[in-house]
Amino acid sequence: MLDIDRLVRSDEGLIHPSIYSDPEIYQLELERVFARSWLFLAHDSQLPRPGSFVQAYMAEDPVLVVRQRDGSVKAFLNQCRHRGMRICRVDEGTAKAFTCTYHGWAYNIAGELVNVPMEERAYHGEIDKSKWGPRQVPRIHQYKGFYFGTWDEDVPPFEEYLGDMAWYFDAMADRFDEGLTLVPGPTKWVIDCNWKFAAEQFSSDMYHVPVSHSSAFVALIADPEIRQAVDVTPPGRQFSGNGHGSGFGLRTSLESARIGGNWDAYMRSSQEEVYQRLGEQRALHDGHNTVFPNFSWLSINNTMRVWHPRGAGQIEVWAWSYLPKGAPEKAKQEARLDTVRTFSPAGIFETDDGENWTEIQQVLRGHVARQSYFNAQMGLGHERWDAEGLPGRTAGDMYQEMAARGMYQRWADLMSGLSWEEIAAKDADRMKNEEVPSA
Ligand code: FES
Ligand SMILES: [Fe+2]
Repeated sequence: MLDIDRLVRSDEGLIHPSIYSDPEIYQLELERVFARSWLFLAHDSQLPRPGSFVQAYMAEDPVLVVRQRDGSVKAFLNQCRHRGMRICRVDEGTAKAFTCTYHGWAYNIAGELVNVPMEERAYHGEIDKSKWGPRQVPRIHQYKGFYFGTWDEDVPPFEEYLGDMAWYFDAMADRFDEGLTLVPGPTKWVIDCNWKFAAEQFSSDMYHVPVSHSSAFVALIADPEIRQAVDVTPPGRQFSGNGHGSGFGLRTSLESARIGGNWDAYMRSSQEEVYQRLGEQRALHDGHNTVFPNFSWLSINNTMRVWHPRGAGQIEVWAWSYLPKGAPEKAKQEARLDTVRTFSPAGIFETDDGENWTEIQQVLRGHVARQSYFNAQMGLGHERWDAEGLPGRTAGDMYQEMAARGMYQRWADLMSGLSWEEIAAKDADRMKNEEVPSA
């Protein structure tokens, strides 16, 4: 029997290494974490017309996300009910129907089985096609253009699940009147590490930046004088709630926050609108973020990604650049290239991050290396409530591991098999017992 409370002692900031490497824990995660959470499926801009579809993954389960004739979006398991072949094998496109390439069963865009080859001769006309559609994702929610889905009938509605993280999510998702678009051409690649390293870092870890990325700053800013002047450790804050996390510098202007090229100038040209829409404080929110469990974005580079788990020791990253919907083609291409240069498999920042995670994962092959707790105690006891107009629970610094502890606590609660009511009650209890120092 797994003793989850022993593996994650978040109140003490202790994380047991086996949660990143144990195949048994991984199988349980698929069932208790991923199949019970809201997972990112697609963005509105990927599904422009009826029949538009994209492949997505809900952890290891492949799904097809399809725009319906009435404008709604459905998602269903990309698995033929005849013998389990992937129904559709292309990444995205527009379809009237999906025909399985193994024996030819065909499904309409709603995921209903509509044609079976040799139905009379082979099945004697006795197959009830209405019973053999793929498994439908029962709950889908569109939030500011982002579609999330869940297999779980009991998980709270998406907005409730998001909680105070909505304030931070909106700083990205609801930034422009016109909405966002994902720049076509996502980057997909594999990293040999556990998904939690990536999700946790985007949730909580600013601490690695001055060390891990020091060479990237040298490559990016050739002039040592200018480099010296760039403050990579500005004052900042960190948010943690419902397992989600966000860390951000306290900026004084959008100019001080950004390092991009012309696409960035396009972003800045909308600055006034953004200030009016979000208020100054939120307009300047510009950090690293994870919506539990595996959807992350980095505002400073307009990159968002999903960390799809692929076994305990591997992830498949799907990453997109995003821009305001009306951005000119040139800006979109520049944003995409900028992401390629910085946060992609060959990007100067991303390679630093991936290197750290794969090294950790390799060390975890050792028996002894899996025996002693990791330290996630940074800033323990220095959390704040409602500090400086920021909603939810925030830390007085972005150099903190409060969001990591919050993420692992949510993970542990789900892994323990607690119901959503029990989790909510436990969270409320925790808040009551916590010291609430004034900001
Ligand atoms: S597996 Fe799809 S038609 Fe046989
Ligand atoms: Fe990094």
